[in-house]
Amino acid sequence: MKEAIEKISQELQQLKATTQKEAEEARIRFLGKKGEITALMEQFRTIAPELKREYGQKLNELKKTAQEKIEALKSAAGETKTEATAQDLTMPGDSFPLGSRHPVSIVRQQIVDIFRKFGYDVAEGPEIEDDYHVFEALNFPPNHPAREMQDTFFVSTGHLNPLLLRTHTSSVQVRTMESQPLPIRVVCPGRVFRNEAISARAHCIFHQVEGLYIDKNVTFADLKQAILLFAREMFGPETEIRMRPSYFPFTEPSAEVDVSCNICHGKGCNICKGTGWLEIMGCGMVDPNVLKASGIDPEVYSGFAFGMGVERIAMLKWQVNDLRHYFENDMRFLSEFATATEV
Ligand code: PHE
Repeated sequence: MKEAIEKISQELQQLKATTQKEAEEARIRFLGKKGEITALMEQFRTIAPELKREYGQKLNELKKTAQEKIEALKSAAGETKTEATAQDLTMPGDSFPLGSRHPVSIVRQQIVDIFRKFGYDVAEGPEIEDDYHVFEALNFPPNHPAREMQDTFFVSTGHLNPLLLRTHTSSVQVRTMESQPLPIRVVCPGRVFRNEAISARAHCIFHQVEGLYIDKNVTFADLKQAILLFAREMFGPETEIRMRPSYFPFTEPSAEVDVSCNICHGKGCNICKGTGWLEIMGCGMVDPNVLKASGIDPEVYSGFAFGMGVERIAMLKWQVNDLRHYFENDMRFLSEFATATEV
């Protein structure tokens, strides 16, 4: 037994391990169930009682030395230095997907930037609005259908000026007229809400950019020029516009604006349904009642307003045939716009 203890303790002194695996193998060799030290411990039970004291102490010391040595080897080998996990610094790094801007954000920014170049400021306002700013101040008659439940999401009903989710950003134009000095030149981008069934062409949430220009001597010719310049910046220098008479409570006269189809260039295709024209916005001269409601004298000032749906412009620009793509967050759709350029 004496020789065996000495032999093991010499071996322990010279023991080396460069990896976790080697250190573990050494543990098994000495301290495992069938290990050399474990075997000596077994043998110890059978030796003569007068020798037990001497060898008991020696064996315990040996076991302690072995445990400490192997622990030390293990921590020196360290996790990262094991063969299996060793770092190869020449390997390429882990790649992770880069996000990109949402197509609706890209187009909204393009629209705003075009009008900024024309000297317009940007104005924003609350999404939860009151009846006054969405309808009343915009000359909606009290029984106008847009006020009814099927179009408007009401937050509170029953009192004189109910709270509701704005159905257009014209409410921001009212707030601008109330608070800003004249002349006014603003665009109002933002989310709007309408109680409509969701389909390829309609959604209950969408985005608008509306615009307002009020000064002395603003005419319909100024409106037409602004829209033409916008359309050419947005859809290309060849673009033509046409205006069709329309009706909005807050403008008089009012018009719908079409741009020449940028796909078939007027020849007729399935995007423009064979007409050669695509509808992009509503516009008109601000109704004198609207100016008066916000304390502006219609005898001195006049103005024009326009409003467009951002998703619609984006659909025409990129020939997307289903509005719902913009709201579903399908990565296959969104990643197509990762390289879309901004103005
Ligand atoms: N507010 C109108 C809408 O939401 C758009 C519009 C704005 C029309 C300004 C004319 C003038 O449909």
